[in-house]
Amino acid sequence: MDFWRNKEIVLVVGGGIAACRTLDLIRRLKELGAGVSVVGTEAATRFVTPLTFQAISGRPFHGDLFDPTLEGGMDHIRLAREAHLVIIAPATADLLAKMAHGLAGDLATAMLLARTGPVLAAPAMNHAMWSHPATQSNVTVLTGRGIQFCGPEAGSLACGEEGVGRLATVETIMEVARRCLEPQPLTGRHFLLTAGPTREELDPVRYLSNHSSGRMGFAIAQAALRAGARVTLVHGPVAIPSPYGAKTIPVTSAREMHAAVMAVWDRDTANDTLDAVVLTAAVADFRPARREAEKIKKSLDSAGHIELQANPDILLELSQRQPTLKNRNIPLVIGFAAETGMALERAREKMSRKPCHMLVINDVSEEGSGFGVATNRVTLLHHTHEVETWPLMTKEEVGKRLVASITSSLSHPFHPVH
Ligand code: PMT
Repeated sequence: MDFWRNKEIVLVVGGGIAACRTLDLIRRLKELGAGVSVVGTEAATRFVTPLTFQAISGRPFHGDLFDPTLEGGMDHIRLAREAHLVIIAPATADLLAKMAHGLAGDLATAMLLARTGPVLAAPAMNHAMWSHPATQSNVTVLTGRGIQFCGPEAGSLACGEEGVGRLATVETIMEVARRCLEPQPLTGRHFLLTAGPTREELDPVRYLSNHSSGRMGFAIAQAALRAGARVTLVHGPVAIPSPYGAKTIPVTSAREMHAAVMAVWDRDTANDTLDAVVLTAAVADFRPARREAEKIKKSLDSAGHIELQANPDILLELSQRQPTLKNRNIPLVIGFAAETGMALERAREKMSRKPCHMLVINDVSEEGSGFGVATNRVTLLHHTHEVETWPLMTKEEVGKRLVASITSSLSHPFHPVH
């Protein structure tokens, strides 16, 4: 929550219908404690009046490069220097073309030319304008100069057509904006995560599963993405949105999760592009020995018992595969341990059966910890036998702190845990 407090944002609004949607962006940034100064092009004021921007941002609107009321007439330089981040939304085809060619004929473009800090562009326009080679080449030029892009997204456009050209959602712009400002110690690193439950089908209508919501794993994925990592997220059936920018691989059963994880492990350990594996998924240890093709009929005979069969154990298999990675980068492997009482003792036993670099223990019978809830209280058991107990925190905070701990481990050489 505190991230946006006292952050200074300059929002450059281009002349497109999506200018109306930037009012929600201003509101959201302000709610979270940021200060927002709006710079609008002349065309932007055809869609939203300066008075509206002023009322929503609570600050004067900036639109005139030659405003005689401003002391020294250096508004474009001051705005360019003082902002932590400049967001351009909507970044129209015209604005992108002017930026790519260094034009500075109005306040918005002059300010952008004078800007040396981070700039995020959220384009919005008709799909043909977006895919036009001129626009695409301007985007390539601007990307090469370090401008970050967010969207546009696919969907129905203001012109009534369908295609890629919609302004990204406020949540997405906020998330990418945050990543422009966060330190990026994990740039070039690749994390593989599992999250959520698995479902083991009994018949076409019934399955065995557990209460995992995916929140813990998704929070770690989000934290890794914010720190600059590339993230592959293999997840079971969940009802929460995927973290922006993660490569998601949705699966249903434990065997599908196992196959997806092993495929990424084999491919990316072979070319040394896997740095950390974090297994937060609550994988079903067993599945029904038979999946009936027809719904099992309700009768006393069939209510007897379900024969179970063991599922593959992903963590165990990864721990066994590590010593085969001779002369290669060994990815850091972190498991989770969901316990109900005697947590540390049981986790130590788990660590000896499935050796890994770290086990993150949570007692799922404890209030505010484990399945579904927004918080978690975890204890870290390192393979060196060191134990760290963390207080109750939000899963977002646990994710952030765990990623910081992994980042620090990655900066030291480590070895198979056997
Ligand atoms: O998703 P949430 O609602 O946010 O809840 C989070 C959580 C409680 C699911 C999470 O914090 C957690 O504890 N995940 C691990 C759950 C679990 O299956 O624990 P376990 O002690 O049974 O397994 C130990 C480790 O082996 C885990 O890393 C697990 O992913 C892994 N495992 C287990 C079985 C199996 N067949 N293959 C595995 O890889």
